[in-house]
Parts: sequence; C-alpha cells; structure tokens
Amino acid sequence: MADPLSLVNDLLAPVFADIAGAPADPVVRPSDRADAQVNGALPLAKQLGTNPREIAQRVVDSGALQTVCTDVEIAGPGFINLTFDDAFLAAELGAIAVGDRLGIVADPHPRTVVIDYSAPNVAKEMHAGHLRTTVIGDALVRMLEFAGHTVIRENHIGDWGRPFGMLIEHLLDIGEDVAAEGMQQGDLDGFYKAANAKFADDEEFQARSRDRVVKLQSYDPETIALWERLVEMSTAYFNQVYDKLDVLLTDDDLMGESVYQPKMQETIDRLRSAELLEESDGATVVFPPGFTNRDNEPLPLIVQARTGGFNYATSDLTCVIDRVERLGADLLLYVVGAPQAQHLQMVFEVAKMAGWLEPPAEAVHVSFGSVLGEDRKMLRSRSGDAVKLVELLDEAVERAAAAVAEKNPDLDDAERDEVARTIGIGAVKYADLSTDRIKDYVFDWDRMLAFEGNTAPYLQYAHARICSIFRRAEVDRTSVRSTEIALGEPPERELAKRLLAYPSALDDTLATYSPHKLCTYLFDLAQDFMSFYEHCPVMKADEPVRSSRLALSDLTARTLEHGLGLLGITAPEAM
Ligand code: ARG
Repeated sequence: MADPLSLVNDLLAPVFADIAGAPADPVVRPSDRADAQVNGALPLAKQLGTNPREIAQRVVDSGALQTVCTDVEIAGPGFINLTFDDAFLAAELGAIAVGDRLGIVADPHPRTVVIDYSAPNVAKEMHAGHLRTTVIGDALVRMLEFAGHTVIRENHIGDWGRPFGMLIEHLLDIGEDVAAEGMQQGDLDGFYKAANAKFADDEEFQARSRDRVVKLQSYDPETIALWERLVEMSTAYFNQVYDKLDVLLTDDDLMGESVYQPKMQETIDRLRSAELLEESDGATVVFPPGFTNRDNEPLPLIVQARTGGFNYATSDLTCVIDRVERLGADLLLYVVGAPQAQHLQMVFEVAKMAGWLEPPAEAVHVSFGSVLGEDRKMLRSRSGDAVKLVELLDEAVERAAAAVAEKNPDLDDAERDEVARTIGIGAVKYADLSTDRIKDYVFDWDRMLAFEGNTAPYLQYAHARICSIFRRAEVDRTSVRSTEIALGEPPERELAKRLLAYPSALDDTLATYSPHKLCTYLFDLAQDFMSFYEHCPVMKADEPVRSSRLALSDLTARTLEHGLGLLGITAPEAM
C-alpha cells in the first residue's frame, strides 16, 4: 500500500480494465530514467491489435496519476515514464513512520506453510551444508510469519533406519556416559566412525547390529529406550549449534523420520488402491511420468524394497500426506540441497498422482548450492575432513572480536563479547543469505567480515551509526516519527523512494524464496543512506529540515534493523 509502485498499480488497474474490457496488468516497474515506468500498454495493444502509443495516451489522459505524479511522459513505442510528486512521497513516508510495520501489510491470502529445514542426521556431525538449510529456512520462517502466514517449522532429522542397529550396539559397548560426554563435546562423527569401523571388520558386531535393527523395527522397549538416548544426545548437541546460530528451532519443531514410520504401510496401501504400484526388480515402485535414467528408460521411485523395508521416499510421501491432511498445509517448502532435487521432484509428482497434493496445495523445493573452500572444492578443514559447523561459528566470533577490539577500543569486555557474537554470526549468516541460494559460494572470512561491501558488518555499522547520530544529538528517536518530512535534495529523494520500496523487496524475496533479494535491498538502502548523509547535513541543518532529516534517518535505521531481523541477524546500537 505504502509502496508508490503498488499505489500506481492500484490507480491504473481500473483504467487498463476499462480499455481492455477485462482486467489487465498495468505492468508498473522501477525505472532508471524516471521514478517508475508503466509498460502495460504494449502487451495490451498486442492483445487488442491496436497501437500501444494510443493506449498509453488514453492512460495519460485518464488523469488517474494526477495526484501522485508531477510528470507523466510517453516514451518509445508506448512506455509511460512517471515522476512522483515530492509531496506524495513525503506523505507516504510520514504514514509509514508513525506505524510499526514499515509499510508492509499482511498478505490478504494467508497460507498455512510447513517448512522443512535443517534436518541433520542423528549421530552425525552438522557441516557447512547444514548451515545453508538452517539459515535460509530460519530467514524464510521469519519473513513468512511477518507477511501474515501461519508457519509450521519441521526439523525432519534423520533418526531412523539401518545404521541405528550398529549405533545402538556401539552405544552399549562404550556405555552411555562415555557416549554422552563425547557428543556433548561435539564429537558426533567420532561416534559414527567408530561404530562403522567395528561393523566393517567384526562379524560378531555385525550380527548383533542386524538383530538390533530388527528389534528397533518391532519397537522392542529396551531397544527403543537406547535409541531415544541416542536421539537425545544428538538433539542436545544440535540445540547447542542452533543457540550459537541464533535460529528459532527448538525441540518442539522436531519431526524426524521416525515419526512417520507407523504410517508408512498406509501410504503403500493408498498407492495400491490408487493403482499406482508396480513391481520392478522385486521392489515395489511408482513410475512418475517425465523421469528417465541415462538410457532414457522410465525411472522408478522405489517405495518398498525387495526385503519389504520402507525407505526415504516412503517417508517423504508419508510426510506429504501428514502435512496436507493433518496439518492442513497448502504450501510445503523443502529447504534441501540441490543433490536431492530429483528425489523431491519424484516424491511431489507421485503425491500429485495419488491426489495428495491437489491445488491450491503445492510443494516447492527451495534448493541450494554448496559452500566451497578457497580451492573451489567442498569446504575442508586442515586435516582434510569436512568442516564442522560449530568450529566455523566459533572462529567467526573470534575473528569478529579481533576486528571489534581494533575498531572500537572503548567498548567494555561484556559489550565487546556481545557485539563480536552479533557481528561474527551475522557475517556468516549474511554471507550465506546474500548469494543466490541456487549458486555455490566460496567461504571467505575476509570478505564476509569486511566493514565495506555487501556484508552484515557494513549494514550493522550503518545502523549503529544512525543510532549514534541520535545519541550524540540527544534526540529521542520516537520523537521524530510524527515529524513532517520534506524532500528537497536528490539524495533525500533517492533515500525516500528506497524506504518506500521495502514492502516490494519483501514481496520479491518471498515470490521466489530468495533471501538474497532482501539482502540486495538492504545493501542499496545502506548505500543510499550513506550518500544522503554525505550530501545532506543533518545536525547542522536548520529546522524544519533538521527534523525531517532525522525522521528519514530514524526510518532508515528501523528498516535496516527490521530487514536484518527478518534474516535472523541482530543489529547492535553501538559497535
Ligand atoms: N536428513 C536429510 C539429509 O541430511 C535431509 C532431510 C530433508 N528433508 C526431507 N523431507 N527429505 O540429507
């Protein structure tokens, strides 16, 4: 509403509908040459078989934009360039400044969204790949909630399957205390590797492990108790990582693979009644159309192995049913790495064939690329192992502490620790979120912690700087929020337009579940503020300009803090 582009859209929609004789999109876009551009005359002319410039002229003559524009000009084949009236921009800003939603209105069509993210595996370490799903998922949760949707977080941990036989036997061998101690210190891989090594060359251990799997699958109480201990030890460790990362996930969000086990037979039965099941090499499968292997043969989704066991696909199909039918979700988001694209697409397709994913319900794979080392290969530690996520986070905070000590020696120890944590963790999260999730990115300490460029520290610093303007001037920030804003200088105008574009930045971000778009917006905003601050004196200006500029500054700080907040990043008031 507050966004001038959507306001223009609303003003022009009836004009276009009138010309078209049916609803037609005015196609309002930002523009480099003017404040905005209306492009809808071209497609409409094509549709009606008339001249686009004539349509553009009718739009201009309608006078619909009179109240918001000082200049409306037809250009080229039929584009319309708009120049907004300063008073209109200032009034829109004033309306935003007194509210607390920064112009963002709740989605008129709220959805029930289940978002599947993080999902580490029990008794396995969390690595850089888990950083991506956890941080992207967390940001999407915050944005979707703020946009007015009902969001259900599901941490689909890998807590079931054949390896649990050997893991439980290993737990018995070393004793619970030793196991708990090791996992508390984050040595999940050590536990897993030790179990694996024994399994590889100890036949007696192999036999015990196989028996244990059978006991687990038949829910033998003693075995279940041991399994629960393993799950608890792992989730306690995951929670330590979530704490450091400052994400919303809690134990209440755990919905591991084990939860769906008792319902999987029913999934198979339903596929059978839908007549979708076929036999292939002894396994029970579904052939969704459109999937082929390298030899161009139809590719099956195996839902029950030759041995009768269920698998990852059965579990994910059961998940779809549960999310749509029990939770009433109409949007299922899967924040899962690109290597699982085909698996998920096949699951979605089979769910559709079975009638479990009927519109408006839809499932989206929010896919992401890898985190690479400087050699552009998978991020590895010096020992050659995949880097543990906790170690990455601890190093980020250490490096940030060094940078803060240098930049602001006046902070006391407690303040410095807190600021270092926000900057270090913010930097890691932002580096991840600010690159298009589809792409791989190179993990680069110096770049992510730099106070210049598209980084968290730069945005946090811009925010802290505005806070310090108010501190030094001894002006209460809330006191300027009902000030009348006046836009005289071009940098003021640029900043104003940027501030008003916050709602569309969030819309664009959510349209493709791409947090980097919000990052780009915030970076642009910070840069617009810096050039405003350079060219337009604030404290030295006379009233009423001084108050108007303070109001612009306050609104910028609020937008930066809020936008970073939607990304799961804190903006300290001093740093
Ligand atoms: N635990 C899995 C893994 O680490 C990810 C699960 C993703 N979610 C899902 N519904 N398949 O690979």
